[in-house]
Amino acid sequence: MIIFVEGQKLNPPNKKNNSEAKSILIFPGGMPRSLEYLQKCLREGQSVIGASSLAHDVSREKYPGWLSLPFITQPEFDQALKRAISESNIGGIYSPNPVVWDYLSRALAELAPGVTLVNDSPVNVELSGYRVARNHARSLLGSPLPLASNVAAAPPMSEIELAALFRHADVIPGMCDHEKFCVLCEIARSSPAGDIVEIGSWWGKSAFILSRLARCYAIGKLLCIDPWSNAHLVQNDGKGMVDKVSAQVDAEEALAVFEMNLLPYNANHVNYLRMPSTDGARHYRAHRDVTTASFGTTRYDGRIAILHIDGNHSYAAAKADIAAWSGLVVAGGWIVVDDYIWPYGDGPQTAGDEFLAEHQDKIDAAFVMGSALFLQLSASLATD
Ligand SMILES: C[S@@+](CC[C@H](N)C(=O)[O-])C[C@H]1O[C@@H](n2cnc3c(N)ncnc32)[C@H](O)[C@@H]1O
Repeated sequence: MIIFVEGQKLNPPNKKNNSEAKSILIFPGGMPRSLEYLQKCLREGQSVIGASSLAHDVSREKYPGWLSLPFITQPEFDQALKRAISESNIGGIYSPNPVVWDYLSRALAELAPGVTLVNDSPVNVELSGYRVARNHARSLLGSPLPLASNVAAAPPMSEIELAALFRHADVIPGMCDHEKFCVLCEIARSSPAGDIVEIGSWWGKSAFILSRLARCYAIGKLLCIDPWSNAHLVQNDGKGMVDKVSAQVDAEEALAVFEMNLLPYNANHVNYLRMPSTDGARHYRAHRDVTTASFGTTRYDGRIAILHIDGNHSYAAAKADIAAWSGLVVAGGWIVVDDYIWPYGDGPQTAGDEFLAEHQDKIDAAFVMGSALFLQLSASLATD
């Protein structure tokens, strides 16, 4: 029997006419994945009904339609579900609960022919990101990039460490393509000791990757420079497409997201300067310590092993970033110019090419992978 909570019979959509679009039943309705799926259905105009076996389920009010079902372990469950499907014109069931999903995957064909589970096995769904990460790790370890580096390569991190890096980076939103990610892992093995400096961190995706590489290969500490200000997001890209999106994001929130992403992994080796990169370079040259409320005080080496330039992509900004920081990179150190290949403008590429032309006698290796330019210095530019 279907029990309508508190005796109130809610009207599931499409009940009157079987030819109308069928509803999706979300059961149990209160799980976080259920509520995410509910939002998706509502956005797409999909008729949806929630269900629970709890006498009082607080998620009930979020649903346009609701019904109670016995626990799947109770003998009356099958008949109650059958009746719900027929009375509420249900065409599919979403269940993120692995036990409910598994039972329904076997029982539905007989209970309600034609009604299917609309989601993949919850176990597979939850584990797929981990499986992908392990495959990436295996594949990178199976075919490492043959770098002709002037710094002897450290042994690669273990498969599980690398898989963990891929997995956790994947849940951080941001811009770091897979090829660039893999090359960062490889150059970190062939990096001298020193600081890792990132110009342009936003939500912290590449910063997270660099923070782990800094630890795993004992390179040094990570310093992120970013003004996190909407004014600095303006790039004057050719068609204004990037600037339109930038105008919709909140730089204050971005800094909070950065902190949320980096704090759990901080072992007193991560900090940031909230300022434009040229001001950051002046600060870095004058002070060894960087202090923020969230990360505390971090003491830097003052010499850069890896410089990752991913700030504003206008030509003037990319040129200024390279000019302000490249002289601090040690011999054998790496400079990465992100978005060297960028569909919205050629600022990083022009600035990168000019740097290559000017300093070719001090560059040991230069190549493009993904969208980034990677350079390894044979000597410091400090005396240039
Ligand atoms: C493409 S995003 C960085 C993406 C990030 N590296 C990631 O992995 O997702 C560009 C960043 O550059 C920052 N930025 C803009 N102008 C800057 C400047 N003058 N100095 C440092 N960062 C700057 C922006 O605030 C923004 O966070």
